[in-house]
Amino acid sequence: MKQNAISVMNTKGGVGKSTIVLGLAETLSADHHLNVLVIDSDAQASISYMLAGPKRLTDVQTEGRTLVGLLDEYVVKQRSADWRDYVMSGVSDVDDARSVYLLPGDTELTLFERAVSKGGAEPALRRAISVLLDELRSVFDVVLIDCPPGLSVVTESWLRESDYHLSPTRPDFISACGLAFFRRFKQRNPEMGFADNIGLLVTMKDPRSQVEAEFERWLRSDSSNNCFETTIPRSHAMQFAATYTSEIRSFHAKYPAEAGHAMRRLTREVLDRLSKQAQSELKQATPGWN
Ligand SMILES: Nc1ncnc2c1ncn2[C@@H]1O[C@H](COP(=O)(O)OP(=O)(O)O)[C@@H](O)[C@H]1O
Ligand SMILES: [Mg+2]
Repeated sequence: MKQNAISVMNTKGGVGKSTIVLGLAETLSADHHLNVLVIDSDAQASISYMLAGPKRLTDVQTEGRTLVGLLDEYVVKQRSADWRDYVMSGVSDVDDARSVYLLPGDTELTLFERAVSKGGAEPALRRAISVLLDELRSVFDVVLIDCPPGLSVVTESWLRESDYHLSPTRPDFISACGLAFFRRFKQRNPEMGFADNIGLLVTMKDPRSQVEAEFERWLRSDSSNNCFETTIPRSHAMQFAATYTSEIRSFHAKYPAEAGHAMRRLTREVLDRLSKQAQSELKQATPGWN
């Protein structure tokens, strides 16, 4: 079975998770011509706005064709449903990124999670996510799951069922606290299974800040963090990338200069780690951090 499902997670919000999912999906598509599915598992639906824009998103949300609608069929209504009816194609405003697909998010996720917890349906939810991911792994080259900051029942299921987690962090104290909390959560109940650490990513770094440089050194000094060599700098381009434009633009226009170089380097590192890991799995090697 392919090991290509990556949950993008840090228990802290505002650390650039969704922006990294966007940049990775668009670079994997535009540069490497891979089929990428983005799953929006955040009730705020940021990545759905970034990829599909408000108009298309409102339409599918109104029709209930979102991740929440799909999971509701599987877990609450206990009916079979075809995930293909819920996946949007032709998303992304980058002209070369034509192979990005989106399972969009919805604010209703919070209500769905309450229904799951109230009905004791967590095991059914985890089974549904496991079966869904198995199908998606075989259809797409890479599956990226954009997780919200908190450790909800849905997020926990992704983290236990996906192959890897990728943790973006700002090089500051509060973001590092978010990582420590995440690591403690991972160490609990190891028998329940958990994604391997494909890498920690320093992002939104202010190139002029001494304090942030010091934090980055500290994060890199711990080899179990498995930091990516690439750092994504804080920049107007990366900030503006989050805004969907109805006029299609080139990859270079969206990710100019250093933003584009950094996203390309990171994407190559992710692909290298995916293929190295696949090779070491074959040799039965033991993976990543704790
Ligand atoms: N490298 C960056 N440089 C500048 N701004 C960024 C960068 N990455 C993200 N942002 C901005 O920071 C805010 C939070 O980013 P987002 O990706 O939504 O974080 P999260 O998903 O962790 O909550 C957004 O306004 C986004 O445009
Ligand atoms: Mg987000």
